[in-house]
Parts: sequence; structure tokens; C-alpha cells
Amino acid sequence: KNINPTIIVIFGASGDLAKRKLFPAFQNLFLDCRMPEKFQIIALGRAEKSDAEFRNYVLENLKTFSRKSDVSSAETKDFISRITYLRHDIDKEESYHELNSKLTSIDQTFGIRANRLFYLSIAPSFITTISVYIKKIGLTPNVGQDRIIIEKPFGYDKASAIELNEMLSQTFKEEQIYRIDHYLGKETVQNILAFRFGNSMFEPLWNRNFIDFVQITVAEEVGVEERGGFYEGVGALKDMIQNHLLQILCMTAMEAPASLGADDIRNRKADVLRSIRRIKPEEVDHYTVRGQYDAGFIKGSPVAGYRQDKGIAPDSNTETYVAMKIYLDNWRWQGVPFYLRSGKRMQEKQSSIIIQFKPVPHSSFSYGNEGMTPNRLIINIQPAMDIKLQFMTKKPGLSLSLRPAEMVFDYFQCSTMSPEAYETLLSDALVGDPTLFMRWDQVEQAWDAIDTIQEFWKNNAPANFPNYKAGSWGPEAADELLARQGHAWVPNTPTENEKV
Ligand code: BG6
Repeated sequence: KNINPTIIVIFGASGDLAKRKLFPAFQNLFLDCRMPEKFQIIALGRAEKSDAEFRNYVLENLKTFSRKSDVSSAETKDFISRITYLRHDIDKEESYHELNSKLTSIDQTFGIRANRLFYLSIAPSFITTISVYIKKIGLTPNVGQDRIIIEKPFGYDKASAIELNEMLSQTFKEEQIYRIDHYLGKETVQNILAFRFGNSMFEPLWNRNFIDFVQITVAEEVGVEERGGFYEGVGALKDMIQNHLLQILCMTAMEAPASLGADDIRNRKADVLRSIRRIKPEEVDHYTVRGQYDAGFIKGSPVAGYRQDKGIAPDSNTETYVAMKIYLDNWRWQGVPFYLRSGKRMQEKQSSIIIQFKPVPHSSFSYGNEGMTPNRLIINIQPAMDIKLQFMTKKPGLSLSLRPAEMVFDYFQCSTMSPEAYETLLSDALVGDPTLFMRWDQVEQAWDAIDTIQEFWKNNAPANFPNYKAGSWGPEAADELLARQGHAWVPNTPTENEKV
């Protein structure tokens, strides 16, 4: 609660993100006493609504989306009473004057010039307009006190991201810009750092000498749902790989930071992005596979193909799946492939990192070791939240044959409730800790690493879309991508008898 008084201004407050994530996160922080003693939320939206109407709308949505759904409590009523609604036209100057008056009048009731936290929960095309008006009307004269949070995508390629950043930096300094990648707020993603740098026993093995390959999967069962309009023309490469998967790659591959300070961590992550081997256009097909889902079954229920989904062109070439092989040109990882894959309408929801260690240099077992599997470290990010170490043991019995076993650390067994990613991130933004947000050079490097691919795909239509069935693990070509290297995707569903 020792946080400066703050006014949170949400642009796009009637939108999906605000309803599902932002208001529930602020409510939960409030119930956990993690909000400033004095705060107000100004909700901006296009429609005409009274405070009472909007508060009621928030309350209704909290019932569905808040992890502490007790919305009848006095605390939740107190939280709701701090929300005011303001009708706002993003491209009308007078709307910003009205916002200014509101901000000043809240400052007066607080008796202090409060911090201002602007949350842009709107389509990226509006970012520039908003930031130009914020500067013009003088809504943020105080660098130290005011911040802006921006959702991804930050641009649609490197050139557009640079342009956007230049525009933004006319209003905000880099230290005020909080670029969200909500994966960084996930408990299990943060745990990668704890696991890697809080233990000494894995570090000596964490390199090209012992690791055969690394597999990073972010698979979703959902399709594009109501988001066809946004997703069409964006695709999995820009929606998932450029941000979430590359950030997980950074956490997995980065060197130890000198401290847990924001810049020490972000410097080491930026090193990883810089060391991603850039590929030439003629190599794109060798290093990547793109896919689009066809009709199929998810958990037994029929679902339509991407081209039949709402808002999608019947001949769309947007990819809903990407698999790629990445090499990091640095000492630690030279020659170790990092296989990344992400897709919609996959067999099951699963985000995981699998570190596969090299096989034993020589097998001393003359029989009974056909089933020998490599040692693996599996970090499950969601929905399972655990870390597993797989190794070989002796099968009980008279002969010396082997079977795989695993040791498991399960988050659910030792913690009652982890905060939602947005709670962690919003709480950090309120206190001014940018560690879990993307610094500009990270965004720029991430685009740089994938721009050749998206350019090549734009100019070369896929020959065979749709090329995977909803409910499968993606196109067959993704298996070939690994098979060329003598590798295979590791299925992350151990059978019961493998568990010990
Ligand atoms: C978002 C993407 O960033 O992440 C969505 O735009 C995707 O397409 C979502 O569904 C996945 O997030 P999570 O937290 O559900 O894994």
C-alpha cells in the first residue's frame, strides 16, 4: 500500500481485455492490499454510459472472470466505487481536455498530484493518436510519475515498430513505456529464472556439451474465437513467436544476470535475441514450417476449419501454426537447435519447455535397454505447472533392464493460488518496476529475428493450406523439420507406469 496515489486511465475500457483481465486483476490486487491507498480508475469508452451503468457492467464481469469472485463483499464494492466512466473519442481533442479536467479534479480530491498510469487496451493503430494528444494537452508532464502500458503487437515488423517507437518517444521516455508480454507475468515463466539461477547443479550442464536440443511448445486448443478480425493477416508468427515464444527462449538460454535489477536481466535477454542466427530468404523453408487448421475434432467435439471461422477469408493464407528451428550464435549454445512451435486448435493446451540431454556416450547394457530414453528436464508452464526430471532406473526384477522414471516438482502441491499474470504485471507497473516488460531493444531484436520469415511468407503463398486437422499436433512437415536432424518432438504426456 506504500505506493504513490495513482490514477489509472484505461483506453478501451469496454473491450474484451479490460473485462477479462484488467478489472479482475485490479480487483484482486485491491483485495490483496496491493493497490495504492489512494487510487481511481478512469474508464474510457466510445459509448455513452453513466458511472452506475459502467460499474454494474464491471461487477457483472467480475463474477465470471475474477479469481476471487466474491463480488458482494464490501471490499469489492469499495473497489468498484473508485471507477469512473468517461465517454471518449480517441481522435477528438476535446475528449482529452475532458480527461484532463477529470485528472485534475481527482488530484484535487487526493490533495496531491497523483501518478498517472495510462493503459492502452485498444487496437495498435490508435497508439500514435493517443500519444500525440497526451503530449499536446500536456497530460503527462512528469516523467518520474507517469507511465504508459502498451499491449502487443508493438508494430507489425521492424520498420513499423521503429516508427511507432519514435512517435511514442516524443511523448514518453523509454523508462515510462511498459510494453506488456503477459507470458512474462506467468508464475511458471518467472520460475525459470529461479530454477536456473537459484540452483548450482543444473548450470554446469546447461550448454552445448550436454544438451542435445531444446523444445519450446505453446499449443492452444482454442481457435481464433471472436478475434478473426484481428488475427486474419497477423498469424501465429507475429501473434505468438515474435513475443511469447522468443521471451521464453530468452529465459531458457540467457546468461546469469549480475543482479535481478531490471536492466541486468533485460541486457542478458537482449543478448539472446541478438545471437539468434539470422536466416536468408532462401533458407526460410529449411528452418520453418507454417500451418493452417482444417476442420477436425477437439476433445471429441467437431470444430470448423480456420477458413470457415468468423471474419476469415475463405482463401486465407494466414498461418495458425508455426514450427521453427533456431540457432543461437554464442559460446554456450553453438550447434544446439532450439525447436519452437505454436499453434491454435492443437490436440491439447500445453505450454512447455523440454530440455533434452545428449544420450549416454556408450551403452553398457547388453540387453533390456531398448526402451532407453534420453534424460530430459521438462518445465510445464500451463496448464500443468511443474518441473520434471526424467532419467533411467532399473526395472525391478532379476535382470538388469531399464525403464524411465521421473521426479516431479508440482506447483499446485505447494502453493494455494498463484497470481494471474496481469496481477503481477500491473502491480509491477504501479510501483514502477519494468523488469518483466519488454525494453525497446528487445522488441526491435525480436522483429529483426523474424522479419525475413514474414517477408518471405508474404511473397510466397503456402502451397497446401489448410494442412493440419484441428485436434492434431500440426502439419507433418513439422516432424520432418526435426527428423532431418535425427530428432523428434517429445510428447509431453508420460504414461502412468513411467511415474515413480
Ligand atoms: C495472446 C495471443 O497474446 O496470447 C492469443 O494474442 C493467444 O492469440 C494468447 O490465444 C494465449 O495466452 P494464454 O495466456 O492463454 O496462453
